[in-house]
Amino acid sequence: MADPLLPPDDAPPAARAQALRSLLSHHAQRYYVQDAPEIPDAEYDRLFQALQAIEAAHPELLTADSPTQRVMGQVLAGFSPVRHAVPMLSIRTETDTEASGAEAFDARIRRELELAPDAPPVEYSAELKFDGLAINLRYERGVLVQAATRGDGETGEDVTQNIRTVRGRAGAGGAIPLQLPGCNAEVLEVRGEVYLRRDDFEQMNERQRERGEKTFVNPRNAAAGAVRQLDPVIAAQRPLSFFAYGLGEVRGWAQPTSHSATLDALAAMGVPVCADRTVALGAAGLLQFHQQVGARRDALPFDIDGVVYKLNAVALQQRLGFVSREPRWAVAHKYPAQEQATRLNAIEIQVGRTGKLTPVAKLAPVFVGGTTVSNATLHNLFELRRKGVRVGDTVIVRRAGDVIPEVVGRFGATTGPRAPYVPNFRMPGACPACGSAVLRETGGIAHCCSGGLFCPAQRKQAILHFASRRAMDVEGLGDKRVDQLVDAGIVRTLPELYTLGLAKLSALDRMGDKSAAKLVAGLDQSKQATLPRFLYALGIRHVGEATARDLAKNFGSLDRIIGATVEQLLQVNDVGPVVAQSIHTFFAQAHNREVVEQLRAAGIRWPEGEGAADSKVPQPLLGMTLVLTGTMPNLGRDEAKALVEAAGGKVAGSVSKKTQFVVAGEAAGSKLDKARELGVPVLDEAGLRALLASNPQRSAGPASARLAPVEATARVLPADPDAARPDPAAD
Ligand code: IVH
Repeated sequence: MADPLLPPDDAPPAARAQALRSLLSHHAQRYYVQDAPEIPDAEYDRLFQALQAIEAAHPELLTADSPTQRVMGQVLAGFSPVRHAVPMLSIRTETDTEASGAEAFDARIRRELELAPDAPPVEYSAELKFDGLAINLRYERGVLVQAATRGDGETGEDVTQNIRTVRGRAGAGGAIPLQLPGCNAEVLEVRGEVYLRRDDFEQMNERQRERGEKTFVNPRNAAAGAVRQLDPVIAAQRPLSFFAYGLGEVRGWAQPTSHSATLDALAAMGVPVCADRTVALGAAGLLQFHQQVGARRDALPFDIDGVVYKLNAVALQQRLGFVSREPRWAVAHKYPAQEQATRLNAIEIQVGRTGKLTPVAKLAPVFVGGTTVSNATLHNLFELRRKGVRVGDTVIVRRAGDVIPEVVGRFGATTGPRAPYVPNFRMPGACPACGSAVLRETGGIAHCCSGGLFCPAQRKQAILHFASRRAMDVEGLGDKRVDQLVDAGIVRTLPELYTLGLAKLSALDRMGDKSAAKLVAGLDQSKQATLPRFLYALGIRHVGEATARDLAKNFGSLDRIIGATVEQLLQVNDVGPVVAQSIHTFFAQAHNREVVEQLRAAGIRWPEGEGAADSKVPQPLLGMTLVLTGTMPNLGRDEAKALVEAAGGKVAGSVSKKTQFVVAGEAAGSKLDKARELGVPVLDEAGLRALLASNPQRSAGPASARLAPVEATARVLPADPDAARPDPAAD
């Protein structure tokens, strides 16, 4: 991409350095002080490296206040400054290719430790690099007395009040303990990162969007903004979590001799420490960790921007010491950035299965979060306007985990060049798919197509959802195929899918005999369903997979659900008034009941009365309770929990006679003792994997534990589309 911010290459170095310094100061202010960046991190790093290169080539241009010479960040007015007893430093980043990142670090460490070429591999602690806000927690005699941000590294902000409200996530840990029972150290400063889980962040933004309020760019800024919020009541409303990764000042505590053992000791005191870490030997061990974590990055419940390697022996760390703002014994090895800048080429409208119109950005393809992205959501008209993006602008795109890529803002909103003025983007008055009038939800933000089930776009989306992997899982029925079937008028309703025969299909363009046979077989196979899958596939507004499972479990049969009153529906776990009403309204409509009947008549079956069991995702742990303890070699705690739950099991926090298995990793503590005392069988990671795979059909891999991005709808395709009345209010 062109470089809209950098001064031209042929400008004199002094002018370039000056321009870079002022740009970096501006963006550091936006990032560190205002928690509202307007360029991606990768871009900031690039500007930073450009300045470093000029200063290296022209040492006379180096100034003491250059951003390369200090840790950025300053104390926000309203917070008391806290002078750090031990400075809070940054770490050096290896931006090279995969192999060389780990190898360059290991080679440097070996050189600095003056190791002979044949000396054994060096031991490292390999950890995740959490993308949040660095915090120093000061415990005196086991009591949290102060919490401070990093600030400029020497002086931070006193955010004790806000930090006291960091309570993590029930079942997933992450709460900051106000006391460390059993810790009697005169002073123990714990350092770590306050972060927001991705699901917590999405929910927060969804709420902001529903209210038409400003959304947060990414979990890190939302977390940083919450911690540096002057009103602790507001801070408390943000679902923050914490992981420790090191120490500050320590008095009266015998620190273990290695970094990994130090983290174990903190964990044993009740401090949240991420279990996803390892002790790695040499460059090969580091590289293996980098690759393994990289492969799981999207499945992690929180954002990471890389991994961190640290020399494990504390004595060796002390021997190597620091250079300017960074320790010599640690390095960050990054992954592809989750935010990138690219050109906004056009804005198109997509019609969802509830009729909602979503502006979608058509982008110059850009590599972000590990894949190439050329479409990203702009959510709704109001968000688009607030972000002030125009066709032709350079925008920031974010793609993290399973979340749909989105445009988070305009690149360099206050410094970057602007595309020429164009009239404000408007929502079309007529649906681009069916020409029906577009209506704005009363009191709401969304614009909706009023064509209802006459609208081919809505039909397509409803069919796609019905056929999706986590719903009826119809193999061979993807975007293109659904477009073709709906456009050719062959499929107008869900039941019509099951009337497709080889003859009808083979008549279609680009449909070979093989694909036709495959689709027919896929449809046939999908008839062996489960009640939760079928319920979910209907696309009832507010009924996601979890609700579908709960409904099936509670009522045991579809007919009982169809006949349930709102009061009866409210008895179901997690079903509130809105959801109960939506389910009730759905089944109250004759055309929806007719669709259900026709689908059953087409041969869709499920084992009645076994609502919770899902024959497609094996549930080898159904009804079992497991307890996890210690650090497993490859599986993080969250991941292990997700796997157990996906396999139908529960994870409990303490061992009792009802516990079926205790899964123990390295440094397992009292839970392991308790298991032995009660005679509860103990498994290691391999044992857990064997248990998970103990169903011969298909092992529940991490993918099946993820949530599908789902939006529910108020109705399905009717038995007879001509009988459906456009009813935009139902959306
Ligand atoms: S160690 C003296 N370990 O990354 C070394 N930092 O520039 C201090 N970070 O702002 C840092 N995860 O907040 C360390 N496992 C980890 C980390 C980590 C995230 C952050 C840290 C700092 C930045 C380093």
